[in-house]
Amino acid sequence: MEKPDVIFRPWVLADKPDLIKHANNKKIFDNMRDMFPHPYTSEAADQFLSKVAGFEPQQVFAIEVNSEAVGSVGIFPQEDIERINAELGYWVAEEYWGNGIATKAAKFIIEYGFKTFPVSRIFAIPFPNNIASQKVLQNSDMLLEATIPNSLIKNNVIMDKQIYAIRRDIRPKF
Ligand SMILES: CC(C)(COP(=O)(O)OP(=O)(O)OC[C@H]1O[C@@H](n2cnc3c(N)ncnc32)[C@H](O)[C@@H]1OP(=O)(O)O)[C@@H](O)C(=O)NCCC(=O)NCCS
Repeated sequence: MEKPDVIFRPWVLADKPDLIKHANNKKIFDNMRDMFPHPYTSEAADQFLSKVAGFEPQQVFAIEVNSEAVGSVGIFPQEDIERINAELGYWVAEEYWGNGIATKAAKFIIEYGFKTFPVSRIFAIPFPNNIASQKVLQNSDMLLEATIPNSLIKNNVIMDKQIYAIRRDIRPKF
């Protein structure tokens, strides 16, 4: 299959049906922080769309393919003594997996994050069994910095926290 054209643009209220259709997936929930809702209800979609519309500058982008919102990618600057860092996150609709979309999204958000926020480090925390996401981060020149044993819990399973990161000063140009 030919690689699809991918556009990153702000979420809009009209994306609600696409958002619910694609985000309401246990396989996506299983790999996200618990703040990601499951089931992905109409109210959850309203809450998300209202929250992301309030970010200034923009922090969360819809991933658009064939005029449809098929995923999300975001950057989250941290606070207090950790304010020189930002966390990135993404998900892609299951029917679009394996087309390089998340890799494009990660590269986009790293570039955008360093351009937009005064952070020196962007990190991500994929679960140890999420090999696809680890590949996405490696494709984006993020390095596994550390593994902190048995420090996360998801679906009642305790697992290692793997921290991937990229630094502004040693960042490649995509
Ligand atoms: C992880 C996720 C975003 C990947 O999206 P995607 O658009 O399919 O990713 P890409 O196509 O850019 O890249 C996937 C890479 O993982 C590899 N991959 C996919 N599934 C794999 C598996 N089960 N085992 C090993 N590698 C795998 C692909 O071959 C590809 O590597 P390559 O570029 O070296 O060929 C998507 O699966 C998803 O949304 N998962 C649920 C949510 C999630 O995990 N979010 C990230 C939280 S940290």
